[in-house]
Amino acid sequence: MEANLLNQSLRLPNGGVLRNRLAKAAMSEALATYGNRPTEALVELYRRWGSSGLGLIITGNVMIDRRALGEPGNVVIEDESDLPVLTRWAQAATAQGAALWAQLNHPGKQSPKGLNAVNLAPSAVPFRQDMAAFFETPREATTAEIQDIIERFGRAAAICKKAGFSGVQIHAAHGYLINQFLSPHHNRRDDAWGGTPEKRRRFVLDVYAEIRRQVGASFPVGIKLNSADFQRGGFTEEESLDTIRALADAGIDLIEVSGGTYEAPAMSGIMQETRKASTAAREAYFLGFAEKARGATQVPLMVTGGFRTAAGMNAALHSGALDVVGLARLLAIDPDAPASLLQGRDSAQHVRPISSGLKAIDRMGLMEIVWYTRQLRRIGKGKAPRPDESGLAAFLKSVIASGWGTFRTKRLRARA
Ligand SMILES: Cc1cc2nc3c(=O)[nH]c(=O)nc-3n(C[C@H](O)[C@H](O)[C@H](O)COP(=O)(O)O)c2cc1C
Repeated sequence: MEANLLNQSLRLPNGGVLRNRLAKAAMSEALATYGNRPTEALVELYRRWGSSGLGLIITGNVMIDRRALGEPGNVVIEDESDLPVLTRWAQAATAQGAALWAQLNHPGKQSPKGLNAVNLAPSAVPFRQDMAAFFETPREATTAEIQDIIERFGRAAAICKKAGFSGVQIHAAHGYLINQFLSPHHNRRDDAWGGTPEKRRRFVLDVYAEIRRQVGASFPVGIKLNSADFQRGGFTEEESLDTIRALADAGIDLIEVSGGTYEAPAMSGIMQETRKASTAAREAYFLGFAEKARGATQVPLMVTGGFRTAAGMNAALHSGALDVVGLARLLAIDPDAPASLLQGRDSAQHVRPISSGLKAIDRMGLMEIVWYTRQLRRIGKGKAPRPDESGLAAFLKSVIASGWGTFRTKRLRARA
C-alpha cells in the first residue's frame, strides 16, 4: 500500500505549519444567539472536531457587519465584546494540536429577504427570476461603504488573532460579496471597482491587504475562491487563475478552491451530476481546475467538494495538484472521520443526496445546508448526529426556525 499522504505536515508561505493535510472546510453553524454572539454550543462543536485529528479547522462563515447577515444565527465580529467566548472557542478547537482559522464573510446580496434592512452589492442586479421571491435586488454600495467593509474585514481578523485563532480565511467564493465583486454578471460598475478584470479584483486584493496590515506578516491568511461561478456571464476559470496569481504575489498562505453560487450551487456537487466519466471517477469536484491552478502558483492549494474515501484523498494528493484535502458534509455526520482517514480507513458514514421530495425546494440548493446545519446543532448540544433524518421534516422545522430567527433578530435590533 502507498504511503498515507494525509499524515504529512505542511509549511505555509508565512511560516505557519499544519500538522497534516486534512482540513475541515467551512460549514455555517447558525449557532450564535439572535443577537449574533458566539455561544457555548460552538465551543462544544469545535471541541469535538478539535479532538478528531484534523490538521486545520475552518469555522463556518463569521460576519463582519451586524447589518449584513447571511442568515439568522451567524456569528458577527465587529468589536471585542465577545472576546471571552471567542477565546474559549479557539482553545476548544486548538487544545489538541489542530489549527483554527475563522472564515470571514460579507453576504452582499445573498441574504434572505427581510433579514437585513439593506443589502449592499457591487451593482443592483436582481436574482434569478424563481429566486426573487426569497432574495431582493440589492443596492449598489458607495465608495465609502466599500472602504468601511474593507476595514471591517481587517478589524475582525485582528480580533480573531487576539482571541487565539490560528489564522483567518477570506470567503471569496459561493456568490457572496467578494465573489460578487469578481463576477462580471454581478459587478456592472465602471468606477475603480469594476469594468475590467483588474478593477473587479481590486476589492479582494484590498481586503487581503487590510487584513495583512492588521494581523502582521506571520499570521496565516487564506482564501476560499471559486474556480468559476457556473453562471452565464459570471467569474470564469481564466479570471480565477489570474486572481490566484495576484493573491500569490500579494502573499496569501493557502488558496481553497470551490465553485458555484446560490443561483448555481456547484459547491455541493449538484451541477456535477452530468460530469464526464473521467471526472466522475475522481471523487472531488474541482480537481481539474486545481491542476490548472497548480500550473499558475506554488502557493499551497486546498480542494473541497466531493472527497469521501482515504483512497480518493490520497490519489488527489499523489497527483500533486493540491496540498490539503477539505471535508465538509462528512464531518457533520461523522465528526470522528479524520481519526480513521489518517489511518487509511474510510468513515462508516456515507454522504448521500438530501432531498425534500419537492423539486422547487431542492432546485434552490438550500436543502442540504438546512439538513446539515441541524446535524451541527445536535453535535453542539453534545448529541450524536442523525445521518438518517428525513429531508422534508428537517426542511419544514428549519423554515419555521429561520422565520422565527429572522423575526427575533429584527426585533432585537429594533430595540438596540
Ligand atoms: C451546512 C453547510 C454549511 C456550509 N457553510 C459554508 C460556509 O459558511 N462557508 C463556505 O465557504 N462553505 C460552506 N459550505 C460549503 C462547504 O464548505 C463545502 O464547500 C461543500 O459542502 C462541499 O464539500 P463536501 O463535499 O466535503 O461537503 C457549507 C456546506 C454545508 C453542507
